[in-house]
Amino acid sequence: MSKMDWMKNDIDRVLVSEEELNSRLDELAAKITEDYNGKDLVMICVLKGSVVFFSELFKRINMPVACDFISTSSYGSSTKSSGVVRLLKDADSPVQGKHVLFVEDIIDSGLTLSYLSRNFADRGAASVKIITLLDKPARRKVDLKPDYCGFVIPDEFVVGYGLDYDEKYRNLPEVCVLKKEVYQ
Ligand code: IMP
Ligand code: MG
Repeated sequence: MSKMDWMKNDIDRVLVSEEELNSRLDELAAKITEDYNGKDLVMICVLKGSVVFFSELFKRINMPVACDFISTSSYGSSTKSSGVVRLLKDADSPVQGKHVLFVEDIIDSGLTLSYLSRNFADRGAASVKIITLLDKPARRKVDLKPDYCGFVIPDEFVVGYGLDYDEKYRNLPEVCVLKKEVYQ
C-alpha cells in the first residue's frame, strides 16, 4: 500500500503541500525568534489540531522558549462550531509576566482564540498573541486577527497536518480539502 492509499478516495485535493509548509514554517519561526528575542516567551499549543504545526514551529525557534498545552472543547464529529468554548485542559504553569503566544491550527469563527486571549490576559500575561497555520476569514463570528498567519484559505473544510474530521486524517503530511460527501 502506498503512503496515502488509505485516504485518497476521501480527499478532493491538496491545498498546501509539504514543500510550501516547510518553507513557510522557516519564515514564521525566523520572525518569531526576531520579535521575541530577549523576552520570556511561552508558546501554548492548542490541542489537538495544532500538535503537528506546533512541533514543526517550536523546533525552529532559535532562542530560549517554554511550551505548554491547553485543550478546548472540540467540534465533535460536526464541521460547525457550537459557539460555546470550554477549557478541557488548562496550562500547567502560571503565565503572569510572561509573553504568551498561542499556536493554533486554524481560525474559523474566532471564538476559541477570542475566549483564550481574554482569559490569559486576565491572568496577567505580559502580552498575548496568536499564530495560526491557517486562517478562514470568511467564517469569522467575532473580530479577531491573528498576529502571525501561515496561509489564508477559502471557506472549505480542510484536514491533515494535525487537522481532523471526526479524529481522522490528522497524520496526513499536507493540508487537504476533504470531499463534501465525506461529511455531508
Ligand atoms: P473557531 O473557534 O471557530 O475559530 O474554531 C477553531 C477550531 O475549529 C480549530 O482549532 C479547529 O480545531 C476547528 N476547525 C475549524 N475549521 C476547521 C477545518 O476546516 N478543518 C478541521 N478543523 C477545523
Ligand atoms: Mg484547534
